[in-house]
Amino acid sequence: MEVINTIAALKSLLGPKKLAQQKIALVPTMGALHKGHVSLIRIAQRHADVVVCSIFVNPTQFTDPKDLEKYPRPLEHDMAMLKESGCNVVFMPSVKEMYPEPETWHIDLGPAEFLLEGEFRKGHYQGVTQIVKKLFDAVEPDTAFFGQKDFQQVLMIENMVAHFKLPVKIITCPIVREEDGLAMSSRNIHLNAEDRKHAVVLSEALYHVKEFFDNNCKTQEGIKKEKLPALEDVAKRMISRTPGVELDYFVIVSGHTLMPPTDSYGLGLVALVAAKVGETRLIDNMILS
Ligand code: PAJ
Repeated sequence: MEVINTIAALKSLLGPKKLAQQKIALVPTMGALHKGHVSLIRIAQRHADVVVCSIFVNPTQFTDPKDLEKYPRPLEHDMAMLKESGCNVVFMPSVKEMYPEPETWHIDLGPAEFLLEGEFRKGHYQGVTQIVKKLFDAVEPDTAFFGQKDFQQVLMIENMVAHFKLPVKIITCPIVREEDGLAMSSRNIHLNAEDRKHAVVLSEALYHVKEFFDNNCKTQEGIKKEKLPALEDVAKRMISRTPGVELDYFVIVSGHTLMPPTDSYGLGLVALVAAKVGETRLIDNMILS
């Protein structure tokens, strides 16, 4: 496994591989790796000859400086996980390497940028798409792998790729969960024992909604969309009555617009949730149709 810190060194390593027609996959991360990240690397291996994993805690996507400061950076642990996963190249640039100068550009990501996470974390998706564009420019991958865990993030990255007409295929990978259902996240280490018990209500609510949706909202003709607001309310109540959990949103929306469905076809519906559990803000989601 090669560890590379500069864009120039990365280009000279990957250039000959590309000339030899090898396919390159990129898995962007901010480190503090867990089984969710590893699953992305393993899926990437099935699509490419060379898997590049980037570790870069991107300052421009943090809206709260304290959040950036306390973001975990367990380097030795990450290196061990990457070696074991069979990753070929680790790209670990400095902030100066990725942002030699302050950036002021802005991309039109469409109206969904300002909904849900975009409402709670102003400017977050400008930061995310900015760094992902820079990573794509550095690696020039054929495919790039992202987790469904960050549903809105994938949508924003797809919009950015369409905006710049980038020749990279985005592949969305399933959410990896703990045994009790909690979605794996680098932030979970901030949960104390009490919070950890309470946090499971987010996935419980999503599973409940999925089951109810499958049994009561689907018909031969499509979906009964008039039932969705009441279903959202059930999930909201489940979450809000859990001690230590402060709900930001629970919505059932179209996965393309992040708005309530306008027709009864019911294609691409997703339930999305965000809540603060103790001091830690968690997100999760489940595709319904
Ligand atoms: P990070 O939070 O480190 O996540 C890196 C990738 O792992 C993302 O695509 C995320 O969706 C995926 N991931 C996280 N938890 C997962 C889980 N439980 N199951 C499956 N995949 C999971 O997301 C970021 O970093 C950053 O915003 C980044 C895209 C790297 C840009 O800075």
